[in-house]
Amino acid sequence: MIVIDGIDGSGKGVQSRRLLQIFLDAGESAILTREPGGSPAAEDIRRLLVKGEPQKWDDMTELLLMYAARRSHLRDTIWPALAENKWVISDRYADSSRAFQGIAGNLGLDTVERIHRLVVGDFEPALVIILDLPETIALARTEVRGDDEDRFERKGQDYHSRVRAAFRQIAATNPSQYRLIDADRDIAEVGADITQTINAQFALQLTSVPATR
Ligand code: TMP
Repeated sequence: MIVIDGIDGSGKGVQSRRLLQIFLDAGESAILTREPGGSPAAEDIRRLLVKGEPQKWDDMTELLLMYAARRSHLRDTIWPALAENKWVISDRYADSSRAFQGIAGNLGLDTVERIHRLVVGDFEPALVIILDLPETIALARTEVRGDDEDRFERKGQDYHSRVRAAFRQIAATNPSQYRLIDADRDIAEVGADITQTINAQFALQLTSVPATR
C-alpha cells in the first residue's frame, strides 16, 4: 500500500491518479482509493465530514468519524485488494488523522495512536509520500476548485500552517516509511520524483510519464 498525503491543495489527487496510470501502464495490478471514503459506507461518512460549517464537529468527533470510515475502508477495500496481490494507492490515510486532528487539532498524537491501535491494529502502509508546500500556495489552489466539500479548507490559514508543520514532523520521525517531496513545482516534476522514490523503494522500473489516453 502506497499513501500520498499532505495539506489540502498539495496536488495529491492529480499525483495519485497519475501514479495509478503509471502502475497500470506497467502491467501491474493496482487500485486507487481515498480517505475519508474509499468504500460505499465510508463515502457516506465522508459526506458528513467534508460539508457544512467548520465547527459542526469537534476534533474528537472528527477523529471518531475518520476512524469509523477508515475501518470500513480497510475491511471492504484495502485488505481485500492486498489479499488479491494488488497495489493499493490511497489519496490520504491515517497520517491525516495524526496531522489534522492529533497535532493541528488539540487532541495530541497519543490519543490518535490509542484509537489507531484499537481500530486498525498493527497494519501499516509500505510507503507514505508526503507532498509538502507552503499552505498559502496550497490553499489558493483549493479556492479555485469552488466545490462544496470545503469544511476543512475553511478552518483558516493558522490551522493549515499547523497541519503542514505536523506532516513535516511526522515524516521526520520515520525516514524508512515516509518520504517528504517538494510539491511546489510543476506536476510532471513532482510526478517524476514520486515515481523515482517508488522505483527505489520497491525495486521497480516504472516510467514517470503516464500514457495519454
Ligand atoms: P480531501 O480534501 O483530501 O478529500 O480530504 C477531505 C478533508 O479531510 C481534508 O481537508 C483533510 C481531512 N482529513 C482529516 O482531517 N483527517 C483524516 O484522517 C482524513 C483522512 C482527512
